[in-house]
Amino acid sequence: MPAPTLSTKRLLLRQWEESDLPLFAKMNADSRVMEWFPSTLSKEESNTLAEKIQHELQEKEYGLWAVEVVGIAPFIGFVGLHYHDYSAPFTPCIEIGWRLAYEHWGKGYAYEAASRVLDYAFNTLKLKEIVSFTTPENTRSWGLMKKLGMTHNPKDDFYHPKLPKDHPFSFHVLYKLKHPKRELSPLDI
Ligand SMILES: CC(C)(COP(=O)(O)OP(=O)(O)OC[C@H]1O[C@@H](n2cnc3c(N)ncnc32)[C@H](O)[C@@H]1OP(=O)(O)O)[C@@H](O)C(=O)NCCC(=O)NCCS
Repeated sequence: MPAPTLSTKRLLLRQWEESDLPLFAKMNADSRVMEWFPSTLSKEESNTLAEKIQHELQEKEYGLWAVEVVGIAPFIGFVGLHYHDYSAPFTPCIEIGWRLAYEHWGKGYAYEAASRVLDYAFNTLKLKEIVSFTTPENTRSWGLMKKLGMTHNPKDDFYHPKLPKDHPFSFHVLYKLKHPKRELSPLDI
């Protein structure tokens, strides 16, 4: 069953549309957005990634939703859930992840979208645990994890198996959130 559309006060989390692709390629070519990734993406790489993302959203009840700011911006990036089964102490797992275009940072959109995604993950999908990870330098990303109530135990930190161990971005901090009977403030969604 394809993932449903989710909505919040300001946002729509929806399936991807063809018109999202040029905007996605633009943000993936922006070195500010991609600062903590191994490289920026070409238009072809960006389109291939969008296709993979859309496939997961069609095949599963979750994925990395395209985020729209209703009446303001048709596509600002993605926020959502992604399944990983590569070999690591915390896998198989479902990760909450995000990537927004630089001009839309600092407005609380990532937090608003991620709060709705966690609500869906725990209360609709009934998942037991969500993880998230990033490089220690990506303070905006782990700051968001903390703001969402996720917790960090340094014992869980790891070298990303898809990067060489000596790659500058290989080391990752892992944050977790267990199904908490988490109370969402009405201001969050
Ligand atoms: C990580 C990322 C999604 C965070 O985006 P963001 O806009 O900073 O995150 P938030 O939605 O939490 O916004 C937070 C800021 O908006 C401000 N804000 C403004 N209006 C707000 C509102 N109505 N509600 C809440 N916060 C608001 C807050 O003060 C907050 O600032 P602070 O964090 O400095 O205190 C973004 O930086 C990004 O896309 N980075 C590149 C991709 C990336 O690294 N992804 C993670 C890979 S692991």
